[in-house]
Amino acid sequence: MKPVVIFYSFSGSTRRVAEILARRLGAPAVEVKTREPIRHPYGVGFMNRIRERTPEIVVDADLDAFDTFYIGGPTWFWTVTPPLITLLRTRSFAGKTVVPFCTNDSQPGDFLARFAELCPDADVKPGFQVQRVRRLSDEEIESITKRTWEPRDSGLP
Ligand SMILES: Cc1cc2nc3c(=O)[nH]c(=O)nc-3n(C[C@H](O)[C@H](O)[C@H](O)COP(=O)(O)O)c2cc1C
Repeated sequence: MKPVVIFYSFSGSTRRVAEILARRLGAPAVEVKTREPIRHPYGVGFMNRIRERTPEIVVDADLDAFDTFYIGGPTWFWTVTPPLITLLRTRSFAGKTVVPFCTNDSQPGDFLARFAELCPDADVKPGFQVQRVRRLSDEEIESITKRTWEPRDSGLP
């Protein structure tokens, strides 16, 4: 298995989870960046402008070199963060294993469930969420990345 952790993070929480997970797996952590910075991330006006959008992204890695993709970001408006929607719509994960993960304050919405639809040709695992990252120690975060795999016999570390 050749894993990689790919993440988008607006304010640092998902970056922290991604880096702890990557360290545990001995895998690289690769950031998804937007070509244009995303601004004004709160409020209904922003929600209407950003939800379901596919901003241009930059991913500085050769994705073909990996077979297991842990892909995570913050929940935004109860669903997948727009830069990750772009990633999943514009890159092929056919035949690969994909493990989604998200951070959020309490309401993940359909973030994890949508991965099956967004990368239909991949073997998509149920994944995991980390809530209220700022309140957690590194050890607590690491243990969440371990204990929430489903099904337990997925063969993933
Ligand atoms: C625009 C926006 C929308 C959000 N929507 C949700 C949400 O629907 N449910 C939730 O629990 N948290 C929501 N949050 C909180 C973030 O998901 C949470 O703080 C996350 O851990 C931040 O990760 P980051 O620091 O990697 O960007 C939202 C935050 C922002 C900025």
